[in-house]
Amino acid sequence: MTDIATLERETLAAIEAAGDERALDEIRVAALGKKGAVAELLKTLGGMSPEERKEKGPQFNGLRDRVASAIAARKARLEETALDARLQSERVDVTLPAPEIPRGTIHPVSHVMGEIIAILADLDFKVAEGPDVETDDYNFTRLNIPAEHPARQMHDTFYLKPQGDGSRPLLRTHTSPVQVRTMLSQKPPIRVIAPGRTYRCDSDATHSPMFHQVEGLAIDEETHLGHLKWVLQEFCKAFFEVPQVKMRLRPSYFPFTEPSMEVDIQCDRSGGQIKFGEGHDWLEIAGSGMVHPRVLEMCGIDPARYQGYAFGFGIDRLAMLKYGIPDLRPFFDSDLRWLKHYGFSALDIPALHEGLSR
Ligand code: PHE
Repeated sequence: MTDIATLERETLAAIEAAGDERALDEIRVAALGKKGAVAELLKTLGGMSPEERKEKGPQFNGLRDRVASAIAARKARLEETALDARLQSERVDVTLPAPEIPRGTIHPVSHVMGEIIAILADLDFKVAEGPDVETDDYNFTRLNIPAEHPARQMHDTFYLKPQGDGSRPLLRTHTSPVQVRTMLSQKPPIRVIAPGRTYRCDSDATHSPMFHQVEGLAIDEETHLGHLKWVLQEFCKAFFEVPQVKMRLRPSYFPFTEPSMEVDIQCDRSGGQIKFGEGHDWLEIAGSGMVHPRVLEMCGIDPARYQGYAFGFGIDRLAMLKYGIPDLRPFFDSDLRWLKHYGFSALDIPALHEGLSR
């Protein structure tokens, strides 16, 4: 049997010499592995007399500990060297000039979201967010759409697998659950917008299973239809970049608003193009209404003291209208030709003072 000192010297030297983590691991197995040299030494303790064991035990264990910590130290150093090498090879010189022609473009949906946020932030709305995977409670029940309510059928909901407790998460069918989340977590006055992805099991030239909406919600001690109408009007003028828009609020039904209205704007469709601010046609662009007192109550807000209004626009629809995009499907095809044609320059950030679309 090699004496302990030699074994230790040789092993430590091999550890020091190991050039990479694989080589180091081979040494570890040869020394500390089940059949390794140190393990074999430790096994001999079983056949020793108690006195001998008392003497050799600490020596063997000490050897094992020193070898193990030398391996750990070498491993850390090797990792550090590998990281340094990687950082060196992946170095980017950020002072180099940008390419003359930026290669990527901003998707029209992202750009339009930026425009919407710019306009509504100017009207004092803050951006709120919620998850794409929602609970039935937030997407429906607290919006005054109880189980078995016929409005649930209209939503063509994508359900996920039932959870252990029997609840069934779903892909939110509208951005309205962010109303619920906001009311449950903030005290009035509330003024938020919530742009984001929404999902319904529906697909054709004007419907995609994943689409985008922006929700608006204002709650205060004195809010009325006039406020809602003004905000919608200001929004439309700013968004379509026209001095006047004729708007029509058509009575409608949503379980979470009362009264409920659909918002149409006047347009001219003659000549194969849509123009706003003139003409004799109407185009539906949003749902809206005064927040239903039951919804306020279910979201912890006293309906005797507060009221509010809410609205929901389809973002993809707004993008199609403003930028003359005829079909919704290529929005989500990732076709570079389409993206180059309809996309926006990365530096073209929507801001009111510079003109939204430029
Ligand atoms: N959530 C409604 C929908 O998706 C739109 C809406 C929002 C209506 C807010 C009224 C108030 O159809």
